[in-house]
Amino acid sequence: LRTITDIGEMRTSSACLRAEGRVIGLVPTMGYLHDGHLRLIRMTAELADSVVVSLFVNPTQFGPSEDYGRYPRDLARDTALAEDAGCTVLFAPETRAMYPEGHATIVRVTGLADRMCGAARPGHFDGVATVVAKLLNIVRPHLAVFGQKDAQQATIIERMVLDLDMGVEIIRGPIVREPDGLAMSSRNSYLSGDERADATVLFEALGLGRSLFRSGATGAAKVLEEMRRLIESKASARVQYIVAVDPQTLEDLPELRTGAMLAMAVFIGETRLIDNLVL
Ligand code: PAF
Repeated sequence: LRTITDIGEMRTSSACLRAEGRVIGLVPTMGYLHDGHLRLIRMTAELADSVVVSLFVNPTQFGPSEDYGRYPRDLARDTALAEDAGCTVLFAPETRAMYPEGHATIVRVTGLADRMCGAARPGHFDGVATVVAKLLNIVRPHLAVFGQKDAQQATIIERMVLDLDMGVEIIRGPIVREPDGLAMSSRNSYLSGDERADATVLFEALGLGRSLFRSGATGAAKVLEEMRRLIESKASARVQYIVAVDPQTLEDLPELRTGAMLAMAVFIGETRLIDNLVL
């Protein structure tokens, strides 16, 4: 595995790989890799000759009172895990190289970025779209893989790539869960023992929504209300949003149907977790 921190060097390395006719796959991450990331890296290794994993805790996607400063970081551990999963190039740029003095451009995907997580975290998806556009421009991959856990993020990136004619294929990797159903996330490391036990309620609520739908319930408001009630039965849980939406447009669906996405953000104590399920 080769670790590259310099943007120019990353560009040159990609240009050489492209000139040799190799397919480049990119897995953008903020590090502190877990099995969900590793699954995406393995998936990419099956699709591409060269697997670039970017590792960059992007300051512009964190709000002023969010966890940028304490976001978990462990480069040595990430390097070993990424290599083991099939990563060939680890791209870990410095913040001042990604956002030098005078940086003034923001990529905004209107509409899609304003609801759900975007409504709760103003500016978050501008930061995500901007850094992903930069990473795609630097690495110039043929394909880039994003996790379905961040479904809204994947939808926004797909839209951006289409709208800006970026010519890269966006692929979604499945949500990877702990044995008890909790979706893997670097932020799970913030949970205390009791909170970790309560956190399974997100997946339980999605399962409840699915079984209500399977047994014939189609009114979204009623189903979401049942799910909310289950989540709020846990002492440490507070729902930030819970929606049933079309996964492409992210518009609310008053009537559930196959292909509808149930999605939520829930605070477990101070830790904000997201999860979703497509019916
Ligand atoms: O999903 C993430 O980890 C981040 O939002 C991403 C896509 C790496 C951009 O910083």
